[in-house]
Amino acid sequence: MENKILKKAANTDGLSRIDGRMKVTGRAKYSAEYDIKGVTYGVLAGSTITSGNIKTIDTKAAENAPGVLAVITYLNAPKIPGYQDPQQGKGALKIFYDDKVYFNGQPIALVIADTFERALFAASLVKATYTTAPFQTDLRANLTNGVASGKDYLRGQAEAYKMAPVKIEQEYLIPTDVHNPMELHAIIAKWDADDKLTVYDKTQGIKSTQRNIANTFKLNPDNVHVLSPFVGGAFGAALRTWPHEIAAVLAAKVVKKPVKLVLSRADMFTSVGYRPHTWQKIGLGATADGKLVGITHLAAGQTSVYENFTEGVVNISQLMYACPNVNTQYKLVSLNVNTPTPMRGPGEATGAFALESAMDELAYELNMDPIEFRLRNYAETDPQSGKPYSSKFLSDAYKLGADAIGWNKRNPKPGMVTENGWLSGYGMAAGMFGAYRSSATVVARLLANGTLDIETAVTDIGPGTGTAMTTIASEVMGIPADKVNFKLGDSAMPPSPTQGGSSITSTVGSAVNDACAALKDKLKELSGNAEGGSSGYAQILQQHNLPQVEVSVTSKGNPEMSKYAGYSWSVHFMKVLVHPTTGVVKIDKALSVADCGTVVSHKTARSQMIGGTIMGTGMGLMEEALIDHRYGRPVNNNFADYHVPVQADIPQVEALFVNKPDPYLNPMGAKGMGEIATIGVAAAIANAVFNAKGKRIRDLPITPDKVM
Ligand code: MOS
Repeated sequence: MENKILKKAANTDGLSRIDGRMKVTGRAKYSAEYDIKGVTYGVLAGSTITSGNIKTIDTKAAENAPGVLAVITYLNAPKIPGYQDPQQGKGALKIFYDDKVYFNGQPIALVIADTFERALFAASLVKATYTTAPFQTDLRANLTNGVASGKDYLRGQAEAYKMAPVKIEQEYLIPTDVHNPMELHAIIAKWDADDKLTVYDKTQGIKSTQRNIANTFKLNPDNVHVLSPFVGGAFGAALRTWPHEIAAVLAAKVVKKPVKLVLSRADMFTSVGYRPHTWQKIGLGATADGKLVGITHLAAGQTSVYENFTEGVVNISQLMYACPNVNTQYKLVSLNVNTPTPMRGPGEATGAFALESAMDELAYELNMDPIEFRLRNYAETDPQSGKPYSSKFLSDAYKLGADAIGWNKRNPKPGMVTENGWLSGYGMAAGMFGAYRSSATVVARLLANGTLDIETAVTDIGPGTGTAMTTIASEVMGIPADKVNFKLGDSAMPPSPTQGGSSITSTVGSAVNDACAALKDKLKELSGNAEGGSSGYAQILQQHNLPQVEVSVTSKGNPEMSKYAGYSWSVHFMKVLVHPTTGVVKIDKALSVADCGTVVSHKTARSQMIGGTIMGTGMGLMEEALIDHRYGRPVNNNFADYHVPVQADIPQVEALFVNKPDPYLNPMGAKGMGEIATIGVAAAIANAVFNAKGKRIRDLPITPDKVM
């Protein structure tokens, strides 16, 4: 397959974000911002215990408060049909289902009132008494209660690292990190008839939300209209349909009016998942000349008591390096917390912190440059499946990044370089993530005025999907980008997958590519091979007296791909400054390099890559959701105490791309890049801190107390 398109886009700055102006001027409407006639407001009240049963709920005061229309609890909630199916074992949290409390802050009541303020006040009047049960919220204290999830992995010999002449064995911890997108999760639910519903909802999956709500309320999916044209960040938090969404739909039925429900920032810590607190142990052994002999990677991540959440924490150790002996084990520890959910680079971001820190540690033991050590163990074929890669240009990325950051200026000996009284150091780490493509359907419609409508039910959580799709359509059709209207975010549109797993440009981009190619063929047929371009196309329609020409194309993965292992790769470089007496770590320079195939939309790709580096910096240096384990209650569930990086935390950050096409995955030659932007960043920081100060921090975030 030849990469025919987008060369131009990749080599120039490309399109500016097509919806950027709407976003910064406030004209882009997010889920909570729709002006719906007669809308009422829902506010959730949460449990004040961490485990047990509700004994009594007193809702009288709330019901009598001004403006209150209803207070819903498990005692009076209408039966949700989808909840009545008997379920085996653990499952998603059912809201207002019974008296059970599994975690602190679990919603126990929903107050609906005529204004938000009145609902908020009345929610504070809901009082419950409980029968309390013992609870556990501390992963570290419960590591011995881990239960193996899935089969242990073994390639070659287990624990082979122990026999290697040079080895390390270390434990690594990451705390709970919370997605905390700028936009709070929000839904407006409006019943249009007894069996027909419209929701304006923050979601990554238009069609999945439609399916989930239809299943839960036993409706025909066509009767559930989901709208989500703008999403203010999500990072995985909006991959699922959460209990608060079901609650809003239920409440709208109860009060027979539209209900708007916006989570509070505190709710974001207990209602929409997080990257789970995870313990890892890595054993790594090599020959004296730096060939890996064995990798052993054990991990235990937290989940809730009512549901198992698993992610590929240890997978990266099976995949990243050419190593003959690898064994991994992954366990889950059930705690009285809400269920985790995928967060950018799910599994791999956690695993890469451990593996890529360990690789740096072993490089020091070997007295070898960490890039050289990685190159000596470079996998030329996929070590797990034995398949060739569809494309891999990771070695180009190492070189590009090392040159750009000035890696040759790095003094390998820690603690040797100072700048204005600060210790200075360089670190690097790599990342990888599967390159995927699934099925999407796109309608491409040329109008008589020469403009092109492209429609599909995808969302854009921030990467710039509309901009990338517009770029592809414009290139394939040979018409200017401002003649393309990319429409998304509506379940009435043809199906697209959920935006996640770094797969949307690959999947939907292919469908846009194929739909535009089919439309072009159709127009060629009509015109007897006349030339295109938007004025040319308009002429064809006029000549044939057609108001529009439309095609609908479903594009699936390339079957050839099954012969190959498809991955995107990244390398992150960090130059940090560490204050010798206070332990403060400052990022001086951050640089991430991606092998994500052809770059489809250069400006938005750069922005997404930089965003991932910044998110990884939060993981590395500051983010940590804390629970007071005496009470099982979150203590820093707000933006004042839970720190995310801001502009001042990262003065210089840049992204570079290898920009070589993957020949098999899709017609654009693109792979994914949303996840690899974050995977490995935290390890690069830890490695740079070691280079600067000689102190190895294996417990994120790297706060000054640990550096001291
Ligand atoms: Mo993501 S964790 O692919 O939304």
